[in-house]
Amino acid sequence: MARPEFHELEVCAVRRLTEDSVAISFDVPPHLKSAFAFIPGQYLTLRTEINGEDIRRSYSISSGVDDALEVGIKRVEQGLFSTMAQSLAVGDRLQVMTSQGNFRAEIGGKHRYLLIAAGSGITPCLSIAKSVLSAEPDSEVVMLYGNRNSSTIMFRDDINALKDSYTKRFMVAHLMSAERQDAQLLNGRIDGEKITLLNQSGLIDVMASDGIYLCGPQEMIEQAKAVLTKLGVLEAKIHFELFTTANADGTHRKAPVARPNEAPLNDGTNVKIIIDGVERDISVNAQHETVLAAAQKAGMDLPFSCAGGMCCTCRCKVVAGGTAMDINYSLADWEVEAGFTLACQTRPLDGEVVLDFDAT
Ligand code: FES
Repeated sequence: MARPEFHELEVCAVRRLTEDSVAISFDVPPHLKSAFAFIPGQYLTLRTEINGEDIRRSYSISSGVDDALEVGIKRVEQGLFSTMAQSLAVGDRLQVMTSQGNFRAEIGGKHRYLLIAAGSGITPCLSIAKSVLSAEPDSEVVMLYGNRNSSTIMFRDDINALKDSYTKRFMVAHLMSAERQDAQLLNGRIDGEKITLLNQSGLIDVMASDGIYLCGPQEMIEQAKAVLTKLGVLEAKIHFELFTTANADGTHRKAPVARPNEAPLNDGTNVKIIIDGVERDISVNAQHETVLAAAQKAGMDLPFSCAGGMCCTCRCKVVAGGTAMDINYSLADWEVEAGFTLACQTRPLDGEVVLDFDAT
């Protein structure tokens, strides 16, 4: 996994999607095209300064792999970045980090995709749908998209365009929780019961799906995963990205998963950081700060975005010593087992701790 890097990009298009959401496209110059190549489902971290504060937020890519790079941003209450983003204009410049994320659909072959999204969770699912339909001529995509009502549907024009372009290979069903539709089955929220009923009705066929991609609030994801497993879908076919937009800071935040929280007891520990082939020692007061916080205090510019264990931008490898993470919402089990950690959540426990940001 290449370490993500920020580059300054110019906004080349802004589309208003709903009253409180916009799609922002970036002009990627030729020399950065390969750096900004992405796998459908991944996200970008955007960075700007607001009132002298360095603000970074992660937003999923909504474009297909061959389209102009675009993200969807829904404004959330008190969200500094998402509120600012609503007034972005063509010609504005932002720091944009190259793509990241383990929620992704590798393109190639012939598959049946089932995409289940709610609210702003449509963003990565739309990227998957656009990319698959254009690059896999024999694949089919079924999309379930849940919203409160028709005025909150993000990317409605894009979804309609896919319907028009791929009449035989793309099907979308809009579910509304606060607007009555003629088809009773499409009224209400996407939950376990709804997925079961839709599967019984034949509108979706979970067992015939090669990949099922879930993106939305934690409750929807948990219920969908449980019912899909009960219906016999293999765990390997279920991919999910936990989104909630109810955070005060406006981040598309991945919701927590249970992880052991070991309380470090040491203090003033020396930690060696390796980044870009250069080694540097810093002192980390483990009872009061994480490695990332200590490195920032020491003037180091380590990669990070959310600083909350969610985005994986600060991923590095523990190559010596013992460490513990406060929380981990983003590293997969295999990554933790392989020694990877999140610097924004890492505290030294014992031994001569060495963290390698160059390790892949
Ligand atoms: S900065 Fe996002 S997980 Fe550490």
